[in-house]
Amino acid sequence: MRILIVGSGAREHAIARSLAAEDAGHDLVVAPGNAGIAAIARVEPVDATDAAAVVELAGRLGSELVVVGPEAPLVAGVADALRERGVPVFGPDRAAAALEGSKAFAKRVMAAAGVPTGRAVDVLTAGGVEAALDATGAPYVIKADGLAAGKGVLVTEDREAARQHALRWLESGPVLAEEFLRGREVSLFFVSDGTAALPLSPAQDFKRLEEGDRGPNTGGMGAYSPLPWLADAFGDEEAFVALVRETIAEPVIAQLAAEGTPFQGLLYCGLVVDGSAVRVIEFNARFGDPETQVVLPRLASPLSALLHGAAIGTLADVPAPAFRSEAAVGVVLASEGYPDAPVLGAPISGLPAADALPGVHVDHAATAADGDDLVATGGRVLTVVGLGEGVAGARARAYDGVARIALPGGQHRADIAEGIA
Ligand code: AMP
Ligand code: GLY
Repeated sequence: MRILIVGSGAREHAIARSLAAEDAGHDLVVAPGNAGIAAIARVEPVDATDAAAVVELAGRLGSELVVVGPEAPLVAGVADALRERGVPVFGPDRAAAALEGSKAFAKRVMAAAGVPTGRAVDVLTAGGVEAALDATGAPYVIKADGLAAGKGVLVTEDREAARQHALRWLESGPVLAEEFLRGREVSLFFVSDGTAALPLSPAQDFKRLEEGDRGPNTGGMGAYSPLPWLADAFGDEEAFVALVRETIAEPVIAQLAAEGTPFQGLLYCGLVVDGSAVRVIEFNARFGDPETQVVLPRLASPLSALLHGAAIGTLADVPAPAFRSEAAVGVVLASEGYPDAPVLGAPISGLPAADALPGVHVDHAATAADGDDLVATGGRVLTVVGLGEGVAGARARAYDGVARIALPGGQHRADIAEGIA
């Protein structure tokens, strides 16, 4: 199949890697991609959020499937523009992508669909902040309504900090105060064609910058899959996945379809598990990063069948995804100064040695070739992925890979998937 992937991160590298490994021998193009992706696919220098440019490229390539990776192009209407031209696209229209682009929209859809989530109060003016803080209580959770690249959320015991965060983000739009949800976080992805929803395997993301879940929120500093501890409360992973499918994914997909804004793409359920109770912390309208880097290498059935079935509305005919029992752990290497003010341009060395280790591969998030050298071009630079028997085995391999790589000033967490049996 002629497939165009839109985006340039480690998530897109992982998607391209899975598609490139299929026997079908796809013709893969990634726009704009990065230096790592260029080793396994053709890259085209097109701005992912420029709908007209993406439509032109898909037309020129005769793309039979376009996979939109990041949220910004979805919220900008890139999928709408492709669908209008009859191009099969994996990724929701702008109206359905509001599930990620507006937290208030997501809360309204969840309420209408009867999906369990935290109580939330909309804050539209500075005058409404105090009442909202009173209503939710401490710990305070304040969220900007729109896309904020992970910076719009503050969780704090400090009422004054919560108030300041709300006032600051009110300058650029509405804000939500939300009930604090206690428990362990799980990311579970569903592929949907607007009607059917097929689950992938659960993963856990580490969102804070520093070890022990301290420091600022980031896009994600590491992940692992599967989650052996889910068996404690649910018996097994399948029972957990079935519960989320029945009580969260399918009702939301049905609600959006009933509202005339069907969701065709990847429904990312960000969940909190407390005992056997599961509640939604957020939805995203695309694959998670770095979770994708640990979920897709475990997928044993063809990714293209899922993405294409979702894009053309025939997912009901696609077999449920199958997963290998082997575990995956991904560790993110980020630039100095990430997430606030990443220092760009640091040279990266040691990648061939890491890639050569058994059960290790490296997904590039923000890299460019500089002559014969490789340099970092963004905040999150690489995801080093280890695959092995059990999370502990996969973890040892991932950190072996990390140890071979040098990124001056770079940061990573040493406790990704620590203590997971
Ligand atoms: P979000 O962008 O909504 O995923 O929020 C980023 C992170 O903030 C989440 O992954 C959680 O770790 C934390 N968070 C968000 N909402 C809540 C909540 N209601 N209760 C507890 N933690 C939260
Ligand atoms: N890893 C969190 C996200 O993709 O939003």
